[in-house]
Amino acid sequence: MKGRFITIEGGEGVGKSTNIECITDRLERAGIEFVLTREPGGTPFAEKIRSLLLENHDEAIAEMTELLLIFAARAQHIAQVIAPALAAGKWVVSDRFTDATYAYQGGGRGLSSESIAQLETLVQGSLRPDVTFLLDLEPEVGLERASQRAALDRFEQEQVEFFNKVRSTYLQRAKAEPARCVIIDAGASIEAVQADILAHLERLL
Ligand SMILES: Nc1ncnc2c1ncn2[C@@H]1O[C@H](COP(=O)(O)OP(=O)(O)O)[C@@H](O)[C@H]1O
Ligand SMILES: [Mg+2]
Repeated sequence: MKGRFITIEGGEGVGKSTNIECITDRLERAGIEFVLTREPGGTPFAEKIRSLLLENHDEAIAEMTELLLIFAARAQHIAQVIAPALAAGKWVVSDRFTDATYAYQGGGRGLSSESIAQLETLVQGSLRPDVTFLLDLEPEVGLERASQRAALDRFEQEQVEFFNKVRSTYLQRAKAEPARCVIIDAGASIEAVQADILAHLERLL
């Protein structure tokens, strides 16, 4: 009786944080125990790594350093939160997971998907999400939404070509794995986005 692992993915300002609650509200109504979490982060120690990743630094951060920090945070998150919850039969709902690494560090930064896949196997073993909701949106629209939220973090300060590559990598992955990934039009109204997510969630319940 292993729990299900649901992830929500997409670029900046697509509405991941806004819409993740409609997933957990539905699980609550279905009487399913769940853990709501996020990446990078999800444990106190991994959240410190998140801060390092999102803050601006005077020193240039090598792409490989960034990648290893993300997987270091993920190893901690899996050990402390995700694996124990799933083993106890709880569901896990995570705001981002490894698809984001393929999209940002692979597509955006240009690291090879082979290196990412090696770390994925090393850190996760066979752990993969059961279902992934990809909120797809033109980066310009997402960045505009995100810019009204708070000061821009280290990723949000990237140029629009970076986010176009992030978006296309996310879409490629989702299309390559249609059994796991659901592509949601995040340009629609919040109500329409949530209705779309909930319709797909029903088949899991
Ligand atoms: N479908 C939508 N239409 C318009 N604005 C939205 C929509 N979804 C989210 N927003 C707004 O966009 C901003 C960014 O949303 P957020 O959920 O923080 O994005 P993310 O977590 O993906 O970066 C928030 O101010 C939110 O209210
Ligand atoms: Mg968010």
